[in-house]
Amino acid sequence: MEVGTGRVESPSEDGKRSIKSFVLRGSRLAPYQKEALETYSEQYVVPFQDRQLDFSEVFGNSNPVILEIGFGMGHTTERIATQMPLSNFLAIEVFLNGFSKLLSAVGKQQISNLKLMRFDAVEVLKTMIPDGSISGFHIFFPDPWPKKKHHKRRLVQLPFAELLAKKLAPGGYIYCVTDWEEYAYQMIEVFNSVESLFNPHGGFSPPHSWRPTTGFEEKGLRKSHVINEIWVEKSRG
Ligand SMILES: C[S@@+](CC[C@H](N)C(=O)[O-])C[C@H]1O[C@@H](n2cnc3c(N)ncnc32)[C@H](O)[C@@H]1O
Repeated sequence: MEVGTGRVESPSEDGKRSIKSFVLRGSRLAPYQKEALETYSEQYVVPFQDRQLDFSEVFGNSNPVILEIGFGMGHTTERIATQMPLSNFLAIEVFLNGFSKLLSAVGKQQISNLKLMRFDAVEVLKTMIPDGSISGFHIFFPDPWPKKKHHKRRLVQLPFAELLAKKLAPGGYIYCVTDWEEYAYQMIEVFNSVESLFNPHGGFSPPHSWRPTTGFEEKGLRKSHVINEIWVEKSRG
């Protein structure tokens, strides 16, 4: 099965690559990471496919599904999933080093409510996620792409926010955190312009104590960056 080391985006029909929110870095894997890919992929990795997922088939129950985009090294993902056994977590990351690290942790501990995907999350959302099926999105420290000429690569832009809103169940949430202040304001503005979403805090949200500090957050804090949290919800009707 070509799950861990295979491609992370669909080949484009016209030969042109659409603008992506990531650039793939080469990954030199430690033996335990290679072993995790061989041992645990079948049980824990959902391969990209051109059809919608049936979450009760994927997780073997009908618990709410939280989808995380860009989990990095995955420590936070692992902790949240073990803290919340009554939710299912689908965690997506393109970076092989972090992906195989989290896969190793999940496999060793046999965490049954967490599955992984290694593919462009935007393509996964468009192709595999049924509308109205997600109870929450976690997007912690998305790449800020600070240079103006790279802003087009930022994940949180209007078409993406509309896509998230479409995939959310009524009452579901989007939880973003960033240490890049100007991107934080962009997120507030983008989510404000999606009709089906509302912001219960008006502006930034107070921190949620159940979210552990992430790897990128630690780097931001060392540089004295301010951490901003954005929490919006889908209207119930
Ligand atoms: C700045 S890192 C943050 C990682 C982690 N959430 C943290 O806070 O430590 C952003 C991550 O998002 C991943 N990423 C960016 N765009 C993505 C996409 N379209 N699909 C999946 N992962 C993506 C990148 O590979 C990167 O590891």
